[in-house]
Amino acid sequence: MKKIIIDADPGIDDSIAIILSNNVIEYDILGISLVSGNVHVEKGRKNVLRLSKFLNQDFKIYMGSKSPLIKKFINAEDTHGEDGLGETYLKYDEKEIDGDAIDFLVEEARKGDVTIFALGPLTNIAKAIKYNRYAFKDTRIIIMGGNFKSYGNMSPVAEFNFYVDPESADYVIKNAPNKVEIMPLDVTRKFVLTPSILSYIKRLNPEMGNFIEKITNFYMDFHWEYEKIIGSVINDPLTILAERKPELFKKSIYSAECITDGPARGMIMVDEMNFMKREKNIILYEDLNLLEVWTEFIETITKAEVDK
Ligand code: BDR
Ligand code: CA
Repeated sequence: MKKIIIDADPGIDDSIAIILSNNVIEYDILGISLVSGNVHVEKGRKNVLRLSKFLNQDFKIYMGSKSPLIKKFINAEDTHGEDGLGETYLKYDEKEIDGDAIDFLVEEARKGDVTIFALGPLTNIAKAIKYNRYAFKDTRIIIMGGNFKSYGNMSPVAEFNFYVDPESADYVIKNAPNKVEIMPLDVTRKFVLTPSILSYIKRLNPEMGNFIEKITNFYMDFHWEYEKIIGSVINDPLTILAERKPELFKKSIYSAECITDGPARGMIMVDEMNFMKREKNIILYEDLNLLEVWTEFIETITKAEVDK
């Protein structure tokens, strides 16, 4: 089994990533650590409980940072709804939380061989590395964040997760013991869950399809209203798919940093031409085999029963 941790701000596409990872038989999900991003951690906690109820799982939940390292917290409730799950306000069963996110991340990293999917602002990850960098010496960190050559979704140059907490993004890029892997908007924007893909998912697994439809309706409306996209871009699950099927993605190694202030706040500056002669510190995903990645997504998410 592969030990994984999902550090997230659920969030509609974070939730789809959690559902997807739960269907990967080879994954041992150690827990979900929460960070404020799309919604405040407290709302994120309720959404993990909603997913636990739907999937009949008992995800371990670790509470993390309520706000970014330095900047004032900004949420994305306009995109994900007031509850973070498309204003579905689904029922959930209360349970005690399992602990603190930073302690959990450090503790599990120290035990070795863990993969962290970082799907929200990088506040928890930055704090954990700052606390004990050595613990992360053999941890793999796959991040959804940033944008490379295309426009952002928060500014002409910045993507949400990096914009919200640019100091943490910069810290993690520069201080993680291993090169972090970055799945930027340039790639995720190509991964649009269209109504026809959704209806196919419903045909293969009606319960799953109906749940995804319920939580993405609001998100679809948002995409149509603001970007005239028919469907919704589901960013976060691509990190899972990149781990599962690396051969379906093109990636390169670069030196990069995240700009923390000014009009370029949240931009990742990638030294593609190696002007600065710095150590290469990121693995950047640049493209994907869209058809094959969709095939993998649909096959995994529609698995009828996953017995773990
Ligand atoms: C990222 O920000 C959030 O809205 C999504 O969950 C994703 O992690 C995309 O910019
Ligand atoms: Ca997210």
